[in-house]
Amino acid sequence: TSGGSDAVKRRAGESAADVVGDGDVIGLGTGSTAAHAIRRIGERVDAGLDVRGVPTSFASRELAIERGIPLLDLDEAVAPDAPGVDAPGIDAPGIDVAIDGADQVAVGEGNGAAGSGVGPLIKGGGAAHAREKLVDAAADRFVVVVDPSKESPTLDRPVPVEVLPAGRTAVAEAVRAAGGEPTLRRAERKDGPVVTDNGNLVLDCAFGEIADPGALATTLATTPGVVEHGIFVGLADEVHVGTETGVRVTGR
Ligand code: A5P
Repeated sequence: TSGGSDAVKRRAGESAADVVGDGDVIGLGTGSTAAHAIRRIGERVDAGLDVRGVPTSFASRELAIERGIPLLDLDEAVAPDAPGVDAPGIDAPGIDVAIDGADQVAVGEGNGAAGSGVGPLIKGGGAAHAREKLVDAAADRFVVVVDPSKESPTLDRPVPVEVLPAGRTAVAEAVRAAGGEPTLRRAERKDGPVVTDNGNLVLDCAFGEIADPGALATTLATTPGVVEHGIFVGLADEVHVGTETGVRVTGR
């Protein structure tokens, strides 16, 4: 949670929630901006909208339940007859639209060329990026919701990297070898590290300006011990940026 005012985040979240249609399966993102979308979807469900949500975290699941949004597992949404899921013969509904926040969005010249209308993102400020990436990547349409403080010509925020606890030192060494400075994320109200919803640790890895996000994504993804990193390349379809006066939509 960072950046602009709550009112600006709310405009972005509610604008994205309004693209959802009757019958949709919706990926429910994590963070303060996506939470506004979830609350709006809850209001629309109260008014009769028929949708099901696929949460990306403990927090988004909890909020969706509180707001009365019917839920679906990611496995049920993408493949009900997958191994270990006992519902053969039923067509997977798929995920129609995912709505999720971001910590940084690359905008402008040179960004947004790679298979999607929108530049690469950094996510994981809430340590939820592993499940967010699964859900956002599975969606037919991935809508990013941010305030203007998240927009940048180049990505330069530290990249959150979820690691297996046993791999944290080895991954930290690999990050240094790749030119980054890793910091173990610590919990605020506990003596010790942040533990993700998946039971892992997070290294926030500062690389300065990231000249080639795709190359860094490949380096991180192929490092043993990395569960998931927060660089999202070629996944976002559109961005709703809340402003003081309204919403600016790009990529549609
Ligand atoms: C969660 O891990 C993140 O990817 C969030 O989506 C991101 O931190 C955005 O959060 P805010 O909308 O609270 O800034």
